[in-house]
Amino acid sequence: MARQGLPRTPGAAPAQPPAPVQENEQPQQAAEPVAATSAPAASGGVRRGLPRPGATQAAAGQAPAQQAASAAAEQAEQPAEPVSAPLAAASGRRGLPRPGAASTPAAAESAPAAPIAPAPEQAQVPAAPQPAAAKTQAQPAAKPSAAPAKPAPSAPGALAKLWATARGKTLLLAVGLLVLLGAAVLAARWLVSLDSVQSFLARYPGETHLPEGAPVGLPAWMGWQHFFNIFLMVLIIRSGWQVRTQRRPPASWTAKFGKNPKKISINLWFHQFLDILWLVNGAVFVILLLTTGQWMRVVPTSGEVFPNALSAALQYLSLDWPTENGWVNYNSLQVLAYFATIFLAAPLAAITGFRMSGAWPTSAEKLSRAYPIEVARAIHLPVMFYFVAFIVVHVALVFSTGALRNLNHMYAAQDAVNWTGFWIFFASLLVIVGGWFAARPILLAPLASLFGKVGR
Ligand code: HEM
Ligand code: HEM
Repeated sequence: MARQGLPRTPGAAPAQPPAPVQENEQPQQAAEPVAATSAPAASGGVRRGLPRPGATQAAAGQAPAQQAASAAAEQAEQPAEPVSAPLAAASGRRGLPRPGAASTPAAAESAPAAPIAPAPEQAQVPAAPQPAAAKTQAQPAAKPSAAPAKPAPSAPGALAKLWATARGKTLLLAVGLLVLLGAAVLAARWLVSLDSVQSFLARYPGETHLPEGAPVGLPAWMGWQHFFNIFLMVLIIRSGWQVRTQRRPPASWTAKFGKNPKKISINLWFHQFLDILWLVNGAVFVILLLTTGQWMRVVPTSGEVFPNALSAALQYLSLDWPTENGWVNYNSLQVLAYFATIFLAAPLAAITGFRMSGAWPTSAEKLSRAYPIEVARAIHLPVMFYFVAFIVVHVALVFSTGALRNLNHMYAAQDAVNWTGFWIFFASLLVIVGGWFAARPILLAPLASLFGKVGR
């Protein structure tokens, strides 16, 4: 995974965020100023999988188009050198303003036009006084003379500028989240020191009693199901993201069956191919959960799960983590998270995905009107974000609450502290990485052609 967030060393460039659509587009637009300024805003949008019925844009799809529009507008304002300025700005540092930098009166006077945090829009303001070349050009000369009159941006102004860029937004959100988390930890530590909260924690220790006859331990089938799920999930998230972001998919696919088969991108074909395997795996998992009694560990069986989940959350937040006993019983926060993932998020991904897929019976007009495709599209993507958030927190907790023991539970079906589970987990990671690299057009095309026609 690429590192994100603030630079570790002062002055080091922040890591690239995971290539959001807009980011990918910026350099391209900078390199093609003419096209960017003359093209209508919609042309900057990203192709997103299946052809849209009518010309409806998904709600989520409007943001990139607007960004493209504003980028085009910005470039239209560029009097000269439209290429080099945005490029220079794009390669510049984009982190938070350094303490003291450019905010002191002296700095403001001596470098009136120098932006605090270079951002693409700021390319409009000519950078610090340029050597001869800039002076000989009549057009840009007009601007620098006007620029010194501008006061240096105030702190809120600089923040607003930072917020205006995708990278700045990510950075500010990350910093804000960290601050919030710090405040929540302090608040939780204060709360648990209160007598009333102490007695609440004693009454609700963070987990509920399991029903009579609940099984103890995790069987081997669970390990296999869990592994297949991760393997497929990684590729599903990746192919879904490609459907969303790739403008020119490497190949197309058309079904051999059906009356009027639609041509779709090979990414979307792969996404749906994986979805079928994932649904089969999920169905087997749920059947096994129900028939072996394992469901009792992941389905809340009493209302007490809620105060207990609150108790567990307080314990996590106050950094006095609840005792881990996943072999016998999950804590209530785990129960709620696993339940939501298996029984809410997964079905939601499936029913919204089905609505957008070629398998949806479009001839059922009433049904289609009652459940518009836009609704499905607006839900599908947030569900993916839920999965990603769940996985990040889940894996972080697996590793920070007794990694070897937890990995033994899931990967070696035993409650012991040794390296067996870890090595099985490690081998499973190699398989996942292998799958990731194998899932490229050159190998996907022959597979896809077994089920339909692959073309350009
Ligand atoms: C590298 C990735 C992952 C690792 C290392 C991992 C590890 C584990 C471990 C060790 C447990 C047992 C917890 C315990 O004994 O306390 C567990 C349970 C579980 N994990 Fe994961 N997990 C991963 C990814 C995922 C993903 C992608 C999902 C679903 C989207 C998932 C869903 C679950 C569920 C639903 C359970 C509860 C299973 C049950 O008892 O019925 N995990 N995981
Ligand atoms: C049975 C399950 C699923 C089916 C049938 C399905 C189907 C689809 C279809 C047809 C599209 C194309 C939508 C379009 O034309 O714009 C799509 C997009 C996508 N899918 Fe799925 N999907 C499923 C599960 C998942 C899961 C589990 C994830 C991630 C956790 C996921 C992530 C995505 C993403 C990120 C997109 C792009 C969404 C966008 O452009 O806004 N899908 N899916």
